[in-house]
Amino acid sequence: MNTILHLLSTFKYMKTQILAYLFLFVFCISSCQKEIKPFYYNTEEEFIANNEGLSDSARIGKLIFFDKSLSEPAGVSCASCHSPMSGFADPSNKAFSIGSTGDAGNRNANALNYMAFAPNRRAEIVRGIWEDVGGFFWDGKAEFLNQQALFPLITAHEMNNISFTNVSSKIKRAPYYPKLEKLFGKQALADSQTIVFYATMCLEAFQRSHQVNQFTSKFDSYLEGKVSLSEQEKRGMELFNDTLKAKCSLCHLSTPTEYASTNKILFTDYSYDNLGLPKNPLQKNLPIDSGLAKFEMNNPLEVGRFKTPTLRNIEKTAPYMHSGIFETLEEVMEFYNERDVNPKFAHPEVLSTMNTEDLGDLKLSKQEINDIIAFMKTLTDGYKPPISSKK
Ligand code: HEC
Ligand code: HEC
Repeated sequence: MNTILHLLSTFKYMKTQILAYLFLFVFCISSCQKEIKPFYYNTEEEFIANNEGLSDSARIGKLIFFDKSLSEPAGVSCASCHSPMSGFADPSNKAFSIGSTGDAGNRNANALNYMAFAPNRRAEIVRGIWEDVGGFFWDGKAEFLNQQALFPLITAHEMNNISFTNVSSKIKRAPYYPKLEKLFGKQALADSQTIVFYATMCLEAFQRSHQVNQFTSKFDSYLEGKVSLSEQEKRGMELFNDTLKAKCSLCHLSTPTEYASTNKILFTDYSYDNLGLPKNPLQKNLPIDSGLAKFEMNNPLEVGRFKTPTLRNIEKTAPYMHSGIFETLEEVMEFYNERDVNPKFAHPEVLSTMNTEDLGDLKLSKQEINDIIAFMKTLTDGYKPPISSKK
């Protein structure tokens, strides 16, 4: 891993690349400001075929995202583990996704929708205390989003390339390579590092696009005044926002996240917490997962803390949590509600940093749990508001 981090930092400081980054950033900001129509699709093929409103770099990024020739051996693309049909999480609903060699890793594939709005990893005041926020992966090990894509390309249990030279020769052979050349110029793509660099830039542009972050849920239509929530969904929303009762919105913010790169509601503050989850029995022979601590010099205060994910499209991204330990939202709710009183949750993987204030014995009734789940299901994209405007 150290070699990778070294490579990443070499990448980070190359001058031309920083300039390109700025270029792309401005590019993205200007295309993000355009009014974009809601985007609905029923199958992955439909999703792939529709490029409406995508910038040139995002279009190339999308081709790279679905390119199965980039793994070693060929056969696995980013979309194999991050499908649009499942909020860009693993469509096989496996706790641990299978990479191109047939091996699996030890974390659940993140849902990629809405994660691109996270700030680069840094400290912010969260609930009154300076905390790490943002960054990418469950433990924040990638500081920037364009760094992130380098990891799966060369991780053995994901796409398994032995080097970036390997990756770049595959990109050179891909049908979209001429488009990459046209966009950035032959000169810019002089060596294997820059080729991979521009490819990750394009991946980033796609992941930041409206196709990955649609804001087309019933909740969004409700905010726009196009539909009302049912009585149950409203009760669920009130409980969700009640910081003394269910307390969800303490971390899954139901107001815009100040330091995120959008002013829309994301249902996360991108902070790191240890919920006191038990170890996934599938991992019983593995050492504990130290989470954020791995990249914070093994700081004991960071052990077992993981990034708070968005809850948008949560209905589609099972299984849940960094270890994929829960298969249903009912199980997630049972855990938040009963962690401290139900013997099956008696053994957290990491006790020392466990959050003992905001969850564990919420005393929610069955009805209240169902109400909160009903509310979470209003966060699924692809909702078509009734044409006869306000109800
Ligand atoms: C074999 C499955 C697999 C493949 C292929 C794969 N990923 Fe992932 N991805 C994962 C897993 C598992 C995680 C969580 C890993 C962790 O946190 O340690 C993850 C995490 C991420 C994250 C972090 C999201 C967040 O919320 O911080 C991003 C972004 C991402 N992947 C993008 C990509 C891109 C881009 C590609 C293709 C170049 C790709 N992935 C290929 C399994 C995969
Ligand atoms: C103290 C902050 C905090 C509070 C309060 C909180 N969550 Fe979470 N939530 C997290 C973190 C952190 C994770 C990821 C934990 C992990 O994987 O180790 C998470 C994960 C989840 C997941 C799984 C997401 C996924 O993609 O796998 C769901 C669903 C969820 N929370 C719903 C809720 C609901 C509903 C409530 C209120 C009853 C709630 N949360 C309260 C911080 C919080």
